[in-house]
Order: sequence, then C-alpha cells, then structure tokens
Amino acid sequence: MHLTQDRIIIRQPDDWHLHLRDGDALKTFVAPTSRVFRRAIVMPNLQPPITSIQSAIDYRERILDAVPEGDLFTPLMTAYLTDDLSVEVIREGFQRGVFFAAKLYPANSTTNSEAGVTTIENIYSVVETMEEIGMPLLIHGEVADHSIDIFDREAVFLESHLQPLLKRFPTLRVVLEHITTEEAVEYVQNSSASLAATITPHHLHINRNALFNGGLRSDLFCLPVAKRERHRIALRQAATSGEPCFFLGTDSAPHLREFKESSCGCAGIFNAPNAIESYAQVFEEEGALDQLEAFSSVFGPNFYGLPINEKRISLVKNPHIISSRFELVKADNPFEFIVPFHAGETLNWSFDPNFI
Ligand code: DOR
Ligand code: ZN
Repeated sequence: MHLTQDRIIIRQPDDWHLHLRDGDALKTFVAPTSRVFRRAIVMPNLQPPITSIQSAIDYRERILDAVPEGDLFTPLMTAYLTDDLSVEVIREGFQRGVFFAAKLYPANSTTNSEAGVTTIENIYSVVETMEEIGMPLLIHGEVADHSIDIFDREAVFLESHLQPLLKRFPTLRVVLEHITTEEAVEYVQNSSASLAATITPHHLHINRNALFNGGLRSDLFCLPVAKRERHRIALRQAATSGEPCFFLGTDSAPHLREFKESSCGCAGIFNAPNAIESYAQVFEEEGALDQLEAFSSVFGPNFYGLPINEKRISLVKNPHIISSRFELVKADNPFEFIVPFHAGETLNWSFDPNFI
C-alpha cells in the first residue's frame, strides 16, 4: 500500500458480508458496492430465502445484470440454511461453484430469519458435509431466545452454541459475522485459524448510546445491536490490530424509509455508499492507516483461499459532508430513499473514482 498525508492507495477491497436485496432495488444497491469493491459475499435472506441451487443462479444473474457498465464485480452466493435443507443441495451447490458458503441464521434472530435454523443439531449432517468439502459456514451469532437480554445474545451464543459446534466440527471453516462484543473478539483471537470474524463500519463508530441520542434513532438500529463503549473499543483494536482473523464485512442492509420510520422499524444500516471511507476514518483515528489494506483487501481472500486483488483503489483526503438521502433509481413515491450511515456527518477521506 501507499500512504501519504493526503492519499491512500490500497489493493481493491472485497466486502465479505453484504445485503443487496432483489428486484428493481438491485440497480440502486449494487452500484455503490461495485464502484469500490471487487467481490462481495451476498446474503441469502430474501423473501423467500435462497435455498436452492437454481434460485442462487438466478439471483446471481439478476445481480450481474444490475452491475453498472465499467465495474468488474463478482457476487459470491450463499445458501440459507433451514432445518431441512438437504445435504445434497449443499454439496452439489458448492461443488458446482454456485454456493460459495452457507449462512446460518438462528430462526427469528434477525430480518427475514423466520425460516432459519431452530436448533443447530437439526443441521449437523449438513455441517458435517460442509466440514468435509471445505465449505465455509457463516454465522449470525446471536441466540434468538427472547428471554435473554438483547445486549447479551451474542455472548450467550458463543458459549451455548458456537463452542459446542466448533468442538464437534474442529476443522469446519467458520466466520462469525458482524461481531459486536469484546467477548467475541477474545473468542476469535483464542480460537484456531479456521475461525474468523467480520467487523462492520457501524460497530466501529457507534455504541448503544447512539440509538437514543436525542430521540429514537431507527437508522442506527441493526442486529446484532450496537453494545457498550468498551465493546466498540475492543472492536476498533481488533480491526486495526493486523490480526488475520478479523476482516472487512459491511453488513450494509438497506431498508426503505417506510420500514425504518415505523413503530416497529427494521434492523439494518445502509453503509455501502461510504463504507471504505468510514473504515478509513476509524483506522486514521486509531493511528493505524497502515493496517487498512490488510483488513480490507488481504485477510479476507486469505481466509477464503481466493487471490488477492491486483488492482488498486485510492482514497484522497477530502473532508466532506455525507448526504442525508440516497435516492432509489426510479423512485416513484416520496419514501423511496434511504438514509445512509453517517448522514450529515463529515468523513475525511473520499474514494477517488478517477484513480487508475
Ligand atoms: O441489521 C441487520 N440487518 N442484521 C441482520 O442480520 C440482517 C440485516 C438485514 O437483512 O436487514
Ligand atoms: Zn447481514
């Protein structure tokens, strides 16, 4: 990487955790990611979820159709695990290069997880196959038990679900997605190299106070929900530490205005338009810009056994205010916009679209 006072040049990053949605919205949601990122792992929590090889092939086609001309972008597809998804579908989907990984949502833990896994034991034969064929398991690491305090659901998951799973399947490749706690940081650090974690920009910037700053801030509500300040600090240390078990995954998750401005607002933060700038701000604040490239562009491909991108991208120092509306392509009603992460705030670095 190349680093001066006013320019950063890094290998092109990949987003290892992304929600692109479907239909007309794809045109809106693919572009901000493909502009910067070379590849992304696309989450399967559509309605209905991606549970067949054909639905993943079709979804991948629709995503590729939505990539703006001039962008090179590879969506890496995932299978949505249910209690009864068959071993054959997983094996064949992976071996045909359609499913890159499978996603485990504990049932009712988050957006569109109703069809998720009710008890991990129900999918042991699928997980055993995944371990055997080297297929990564991506985990939303929260218990869905509503008697457990929402701020404890990740830490409880580690003890009660992840620990037994890793013990039973010691060579399974697992990514604990969007970690939010000091406990998760320590857990991943103390585990074998077959366990890694993604960290979002928002969990590096906000703690749980941000959700209640002057009123209820539904734009900052996501799952797992942001935790106390000590957890945010632990995440910032982990992301900037240069440890290969932590890498970039934005969990950018757009919801239309009407589903955010609601008495029961959806979980999800749309950070794609400013994701790399948002990470750069954190690394700069931590005095660790020299670690940005490894986190955003090297540790992910290394974990997944993919080549590191050859192309470089550049950020320039350019303090600028983030727009508070991201318009949908073909907006046809007044609610068709998204409020992006950092709306109205200043970020110091800008992606340079003219850098070759
Ligand atoms: O905040 C979130 N939004 N967390 C998730 O796990 C799902 C995502 C979504 O799909 O909106
Ligand atoms: Zn997600």
